[in-house]
Amino acid sequence: MTHLVAPSILAADFTRLGDDVTLLQDSEADWIHVDVMDGRFVPNISFGMMIVKAIRPLTTKPLDVHLMIVEPEKYIEAFSEAGADHIIVHYEACPHLHRTIQQIKECGALAGVAINPHTPVGLLENVLEDLDQVLIMSVNPGFGGQKFIYQSLKKVEELKFRLIERNLKTLISIDGGVGLHNAGKILEAGCNVLVAGSTVFRAEDPKEMIAQLKHIGRDALLA
Ligand code: DX5
Ligand code: ZN
Repeated sequence: MTHLVAPSILAADFTRLGDDVTLLQDSEADWIHVDVMDGRFVPNISFGMMIVKAIRPLTTKPLDVHLMIVEPEKYIEAFSEAGADHIIVHYEACPHLHRTIQQIKECGALAGVAINPHTPVGLLENVLEDLDQVLIMSVNPGFGGQKFIYQSLKKVEELKFRLIERNLKTLISIDGGVGLHNAGKILEAGCNVLVAGSTVFRAEDPKEMIAQLKHIGRDALLA
């Protein structure tokens, strides 16, 4: 399977968010990544379900909603009703992770768990079977435009190994500091989904950048 690209609207121009979502709709983006921050789990505040609801009619692409919030179980239903297709909660924010994952599935959304850079992938061992996606944070969550933490590649490799061992189809996403300079290595490590914010929206031609991220490695495969 070829990899997926999920641009993050955290780096979009909020004064013309509709135009930027429409741009993503007309691009080769596979999903649209939506970063929700509460100023508690992470030191920054972004936006909530009203934005998910507002952009929902503008795109047919799956909305990949990354909840960087404490007590996410309180808001899962609301995000699902607002139009989230995938709901990702943080391992570090969920004392009853198994229950929270079931709650996401009961809403009809695909379930994902994100782990911070210091959290080992082995801690997901007992929920891997229940997950559609594991999101490996390659920066400390809270801000766009940070530098990629290379240790994350080892985590991707280790998780890939565990998934293959158990014959699981769970997708591995990576989030933070992704660009053309490291995308090849990330995919080689076994990642399925590239989340990219500033690389896409700071590019002169965001659609072309998405196409480049989408086609990376293809030449090598065809060679
Ligand atoms: C960081 C967010 C990311 C962010 C990535 O807390 O989870 O999704 O938008 O931004 P870049 O690609 O700029 O590192
Ligand atoms: Zn994110």
